[in-house]
Amino acid sequence: MSQESGASKVIQRKNKLNQQQAKPKVWQYVGYKSILETATCQRLYSINGKRDDISLFYVHGNFYAINATCPHAGGPLDVIVDLEDLVKREEPHVICPWHHFSFNLLTGKAEEGLQAETYQVKVDGEKVYVFHSYKLSVKPFETEI
Ligand code: FES
Repeated sequence: MSQESGASKVIQRKNKLNQQQAKPKVWQYVGYKSILETATCQRLYSINGKRDDISLFYVHGNFYAINATCPHAGGPLDVIVDLEDLVKREEPHVICPWHHFSFNLLTGKAEEGLQAETYQVKVDGEKVYVFHSYKLSVKPFETEI
């Protein structure tokens, strides 16, 4: 077994355990639409720590939320490697900068078989909500600084 695939399996096991132990999801208010839609991609920090941070994308008038940590080996999914690729597809994908696996923002699936967790997003008037277990914020919580 390669070192990389071993690390990947450990992260996948941890993610599975975390999902099993996670609090129930509820609609978490994350901010005003007019502000959030100004960024194509931004991190939303979880009060529960980095493993529950999400990346919020705004593409073609829709919000998408995906876990901010790549399920392969922990790379960041809150960066845009290829903006042209992100916006040209019917279903947008985010490319992990570490090994370039591409994750569908609707399903969380990568062609390589990996699965990132995605979250429902709803817009109610001017307010945006993400269906998530923990409070989320555009700024880090003081416990993370
Ligand atoms: S860490 Fe390898 S593709 Fe993301």
